[in-house]
Amino acid sequence: YNGRINVAIDGPAGAGKSTVARKVAESLGYIYVDTGAMYRAVTLAANRSGIEPHESDRLKELVESIHIRLKPGVEGQTVLLNGEDVTQAIRTRDVTLRVSQVASHEAVRTRLVDIQRELAALKGIVMDGRDIGTQVLPQAELKVFLVASVQVRALRRYQELNENERIPLNQLEEEIAQRDHSDENREISPLTCAKDAVVLDSTELTIDQVVALILDLSRTKLAEAK
Ligand code: CDP
Ligand code: CDP
Repeated sequence: YNGRINVAIDGPAGAGKSTVARKVAESLGYIYVDTGAMYRAVTLAANRSGIEPHESDRLKELVESIHIRLKPGVEGQTVLLNGEDVTQAIRTRDVTLRVSQVASHEAVRTRLVDIQRELAALKGIVMDGRDIGTQVLPQAELKVFLVASVQVRALRRYQELNENERIPLNQLEEEIAQRDHSDENREISPLTCAKDAVVLDSTELTIDQVVALILDLSRTKLAEAK
């Protein structure tokens, strides 16, 4: 035991996972790992190579040949795809609309889960995603399943859109519901709450309230681990 724990945060889109995970990591002096960014980077690479999200064999070849790296930094995490900074490029709508289908392929998941487990080997990691508590880090000392109503999640994402990205709120809500449905119903590592996860509903909580709750839980787990 080296005095550190791993924290797994899972949940649907817009529940607040990345915002909260980043702050929790900062407070604990841990490293934040955004696994969604890795699935987005594979999706961007596929888009650029003209690979459709259903082309299983081509996706397998792609994911086994590209290099994805997450670089933690003071201004947040940088995502590198074959050395290129794609931190912004992976957030576009054409990536968002395809990422769930790309993430459903076994070869894609196997490769990314290997990288994720390696990153967490030394502990002191806060990792967010869909299958962290169930699949990637089933031994994580603390697991949080963060949820919020789909209306609130859509509104949060709506407020993040730039002028040139504006789509109607109800369309955004529909797209988020669709992605939740794909993530919850895929065959491999679907989005589900681990048996030993603490469920937090952030619908009516501020970011700081959620962070404080998770920090409390972390301190309890740290004391137990000693
Ligand atoms: O930030 P947002 O909630 O929009 O999504 P994300 O965390 O960037 O993840 C994008 C997509 O990647 C999800 O909708 C899932 O389809 C997939 N994903 C996954 O399958 N497993 C993970 N551990 C993380 C993301
Ligand atoms: O990573 P995930 O998709 O779960 O959500 P996010 O990108 O961290 O958060 C979506 C948006 O909701 C961000 O703009 C947050 O500032 C906002 N928000 C939140 O995360 N938690 C709250 N309790 C309230 C707002």
